[in-house]
Amino acid sequence: MKRRTFVKNLTAASLLLSGAPSALSAQMTQRLEPATANPAFMPDIEIILRAVIGEATLREGGATQLWRFTGEIMKGNASALNFLDGSGHLPIIRVRRGQKIRIHFENQLPEQSIVHWHGLNIEQRMDGHPMYAIAPGERYVYEIAIDNRAGTYWFHPHPHERTSFQVYQGLGGMLIVHDEQEDSLNLPQGEHEIPLMIQDRTFDSANQLVYIGNMRHNWMMGFSGDFVLVNGRVGYTKTVPRTAHRVRIINTSNASLYHLRWSDGSDFRVIGSDGGLLENAVEQPALTLGVGERVDVWVDFSSQAAGSVVQLLAESYTPSLQNFTAEQGGAPMQGSARPIASFQCEGSAAVPVAPPMQLSSYPALNESEATNSASPRAVRISMMRGSFYLNNRTFGGMQDVPEENVVKLDSTEVWEFANDASMGMGMGMGGMMQMAHPMHVHNVQFKVLSRTRQGGQSTLHQHLSAGFTDYGLKDVVLVLPGERVRVLMKFENHTGIYLYHCHILEHEDLGMMHNYRIEA
Ligand code: C2O
Ligand code: CU
Ligand code: CU
Repeated sequence: MKRRTFVKNLTAASLLLSGAPSALSAQMTQRLEPATANPAFMPDIEIILRAVIGEATLREGGATQLWRFTGEIMKGNASALNFLDGSGHLPIIRVRRGQKIRIHFENQLPEQSIVHWHGLNIEQRMDGHPMYAIAPGERYVYEIAIDNRAGTYWFHPHPHERTSFQVYQGLGGMLIVHDEQEDSLNLPQGEHEIPLMIQDRTFDSANQLVYIGNMRHNWMMGFSGDFVLVNGRVGYTKTVPRTAHRVRIINTSNASLYHLRWSDGSDFRVIGSDGGLLENAVEQPALTLGVGERVDVWVDFSSQAAGSVVQLLAESYTPSLQNFTAEQGGAPMQGSARPIASFQCEGSAAVPVAPPMQLSSYPALNESEATNSASPRAVRISMMRGSFYLNNRTFGGMQDVPEENVVKLDSTEVWEFANDASMGMGMGMGGMMQMAHPMHVHNVQFKVLSRTRQGGQSTLHQHLSAGFTDYGLKDVVLVLPGERVRVLMKFENHTGIYLYHCHILEHEDLGMMHNYRIEA
């Protein structure tokens, strides 16, 4: 292993906040060689992806400085890399299952970074684990043979203790996978496909981003912003033809959860979740999305009058389940929610179309195949003395795997995320530290088996759980206070070290994250 100096990083590191993650310097000592191009890997698509300092128009009142991805295609067709409409700074990479993609990631930031491909089943060295973070000026070459189902995935920085800051600064994008099963459905595509990335941000009087400050308490609560941005814009609007559309929604906020509904009162027709298309569409009046959760919905604007506007309405919640919608700016409240995206319906109405009856089929995960269904692997979420823990530990060294965190390749297991009381001691909060934690596992797509709660459901729990998307294949599941959620997953194709963590980015950076190892 080559020795490096990280003097340049120290400036950035010293911005790092006394009350915020503290072990950064220790983490920077162990570094691995960045992956380079393998001449034997024959890419179908090859792109350069740069993390740079830039600016963008996020709202009226002038440009906002941010960190962003830029990129260019070296090989493959022009649809492989685009930007979310309205933003120009949030990229979408499109690939087909079975394709090989090479991505030259260039870190032009003033601090270390690495990119994680959230949701992909992928080799350890390509997963963007923080152990592979590269210094400013360095390059990391990803070579990925895409083997995920058609669906909406996310890519974002994952350097330990800096993920929250870097995502907040604007780094992130969508990775959309297509496949043959999806082709055969003739789902709405092109201009009839609307990807929506939801995030919240706070601005100062000069329209610049304001983050969280250095109080540990704020980090524990997670960042919640004053405005909701959709595709990088406050007040996102789009003109849409009066026909069927496919809307891909992803919550890429640092910490907030959103409870969404349509302004005309119609149900969401959900056709996909984190890991791709469902077998059959599901209808529900609301959607509740924790950080990292995705949902694919079918919406047919043909029944709307020409010139009418349909809005996506959002209630915003902090991880401690405080509804802060009323404190946010933007368009006026409609009931308990605010419009975050508006669709102006134009043109002549098409004949209404419903989603296909059968959307997909995929190998079932069977609980009967699990090695541990009688005694699931427990992931206990707790808080002590102002820190969060999973199974009473915080994240250790980059490559440390707690001895109990070893699983067998090709085995199927049940994991149980337990968010029991989670009461804070010594926070002076009077027991206010009950939080919802969106739990994420790298490298797998799981099935949610059950969700139980001690002590019955509060009205708020009922309200939020009506919007859960616990079906299909998932890689994030929201675990409300007092809940235990059992999930079933199979460890396939790759051995190595992967992560699981709470996807509240401040919690992850505070160490609410562990390695696990898949062994042959
Ligand atoms: Cu979105 Cu560790 O991931
Ligand atoms: Cu991930
Ligand atoms: Cu958390």
